[in-house]
Amino acid sequence: MGWNSWNTFGCNATEQIVKDTADFMAASGMRDAGYQYLTIDDCWMERSRDSAGRLVPDAAKYPHGLAELAAYVHGKGLKFGVYESPTYHTCQGFPGSLGYEQKDADTFASWGVDFLKYDNCTASDPSQRPGDERLPLETRDSTMRDALARTGRPIVFSLSLQPAAQGESPWEWGKSVANMWRIDGDRDASFDGLKRLIHTDLDKSKWAAPGGWNDIDMLGTGNYAFAAGSSDPTKRLTYDQEKSELSVAAVLAAPLISGADLRTPAAAGTSGFPISDQDLSVYLNKDVIAVNQDSRGEQGTAVTTTGGLNVLRRPLANGDVAVALFNETSSQAALSTTAGAVGLPPSSTGYVLNDLWDHSSHVSTDGTISATVPAGGTVLYRVSPRPAR
Ligand code: GLA
Repeated sequence: MGWNSWNTFGCNATEQIVKDTADFMAASGMRDAGYQYLTIDDCWMERSRDSAGRLVPDAAKYPHGLAELAAYVHGKGLKFGVYESPTYHTCQGFPGSLGYEQKDADTFASWGVDFLKYDNCTASDPSQRPGDERLPLETRDSTMRDALARTGRPIVFSLSLQPAAQGESPWEWGKSVANMWRIDGDRDASFDGLKRLIHTDLDKSKWAAPGGWNDIDMLGTGNYAFAAGSSDPTKRLTYDQEKSELSVAAVLAAPLISGADLRTPAAAGTSGFPISDQDLSVYLNKDVIAVNQDSRGEQGTAVTTTGGLNVLRRPLANGDVAVALFNETSSQAALSTTAGAVGLPPSSTGYVLNDLWDHSSHVSTDGTISATVPAGGTVLYRVSPRPAR
């Protein structure tokens, strides 16, 4: 759980932005809700390595260097991440880590880095790739895995790639190499982007388990930068769609990495896109986060996905089942399933349905689990057998 700079700031993240974000995450309740990792994406470095072959932070963006910035982030009770790539160049043309894995891993560890997002922008046709970029991605990523391990510092290893475009299936081997892996290309903050990621992820549940997770890319909740940048109002989520995003991400056991501008309005200034209190409250829903972080670590699956009406379920460590009734259509709809269909055991006393967004609960005596769900919305229940009196 955390934040990544790319979807709001692109190449323009700076030390000040990261510090303001860390301040906000600590003060707003995000850190205490579990959002820990702040990661600066591509473009944090100079175009050339130094004479010893080490990566050098961009002196204009990070005037005090990344060790100082990591210390600041740590001082707020948060963790610090950077971006690199197992290629000769990053996606934006900065020096890649291919051939420099140990040097870069040692550099990151010396700065106090806790998370590495590792990309893969290279020709989709291996015969068109230069030199060692022809090596399989699993091999190139494993080299960095081993280099990180040799530093002795725990560093979350996050694989970022374009699986379909690059003909890669990182979920098949990701668990032995990394802690998370992207399952689809970049998404923006639109509902279409969210729906694409969800449906791409639904058939990959069996590959996720504690230690290795399917990554649905940065969350769009509270991210207004895409809509502002394109003047297209559909490039941001409505409040109902935002609740769908966190609900479904919870059921899918997805990493919760915000791509929003997490600064106060004063810090964000007129060129920023500071998150509203209502959108922040979506991120802070502890009941939904508890489903996401459930210790059983099982990614949920679809019971039905028909005509944009989705019933998703995730079994939880205490025997409860999380049930998401996700209506991706543009009209209100009634969705319904049963306790048996979502995998709950028979119960002669019925079931208790806890609504994790409106915090109401009700009893279902016959096991029906249903709700009227707004367009684009989700009703997320945590369902348990009703205790006998
Ligand atoms: C790729 C990744 C993005 C971002 C950019 C940076 O497109 O998928 O998330 O890291 O590279 O250049």
